[in-house]
Formats: sequence, C-alpha cells, structure tokens
Amino acid sequence: MPTKPNAGPEQADQETKSTGRATNTRALAAIELLKDDHREVQEYFEQYEGLGSDGEKEPLALKICLALQVHAQIEEEIFYPEVRSAIKNRELIDKALVEHAAAKELVAEIEAMEVGDELRDAKVKVLGDQIRHHVAEEENELFPQLHQADLDMALLGQRLADRKAELLREVAEGADPG
Ligand SMILES: [Fe+2]
Ligand SMILES: [Fe+2]
Repeated sequence: MPTKPNAGPEQADQETKSTGRATNTRALAAIELLKDDHREVQEYFEQYEGLGSDGEKEPLALKICLALQVHAQIEEEIFYPEVRSAIKNRELIDKALVEHAAAKELVAEIEAMEVGDELRDAKVKVLGDQIRHHVAEEENELFPQLHQADLDMALLGQRLADRKAELLREVAEGADPG
C-alpha cells in the first residue's frame, strides 16, 4: 500500500492556533454563563424585596437557594480548579471558596426554615448582601485575569453549561444536587 502524502485537511486545527490572544473574546463563553447566573440571582433578590406575602416569598427564597447551589457547585467543581491553575493571584480563589461556604450555611438555614419564620427576610437580605459582594469580586477582580490566561474558555463554558444542565435535571427528577 502506498504511503499517503500529508494531504488531508486538518479539521481540528483551523484558525484556533494562529489567531492568538486577540480572539480571547471567545474567552467569554465561560464568563458570560457565570455572569448570566449572577444577573439571574440578583433579579430574584430584587423581586424578593418587592413581595409582600409569605406565600410568594417562600418559593422565591427556595428558588434563590437552588440557583446559588447549582452556580456554586459548577464553579467549585469546574471553574475554580481550572482558573486556580491558570492565574497568578490564587488567593482570589481561596477567598471565593470561603465566601461560598458562608453563603451555603445561610442557604441551608433558609431551606430548613418553617413557613412564616420571622427571620427569613433578614436571612435572605444578608445572603443577598453577601452574594452582591462575592459577585463584584468575581466580576471585577477574578474574571479580568482570565483575558490573559491560557485556558480554553469556550470548552470551559461548554463544561459549565453541561454540568449546570445536569444538576438542574437531577433536581427536576427529585435528586439532591451533588
Ligand atoms: Fe459566581
Ligand atoms: Fe462564586
């Protein structure tokens, strides 16, 4: 059998290698997904403030808790480990993990509350303040570092999206996320 010359098209390679940093706007796949999550939960917190009755507040509080759990989980499982190995300022990741842990405690307390618990509004408010602070750090300090990071952010975005969908499916099917 004659040896084939290197004539085949290199499918996987196309432009990705030659375009360099300028195209790291594709970077934004992962970041956009996380920012969308941030906006979504911030809207829930704002809606909560405008509600009057317990009957409306309770399901929204639980929706906030679920959104935060799924978001924290995809960050901790996928995003933070990848980012930790790609940026210089790793304390940002340590700090983010500590902030997640604090938020999870409040989330667990809110989820465990009886209907009509008078501390729920305060807990949701404090959680909202913590999350606002955490989101600002991620978006203003952590994400900007990724523009120079050597990471395949499009792939990372896809992994985040896939895992998020999987966790939400598990919840819909009645299983605990995780
Ligand atoms: Fe986040
Ligand atoms: Fe986070």
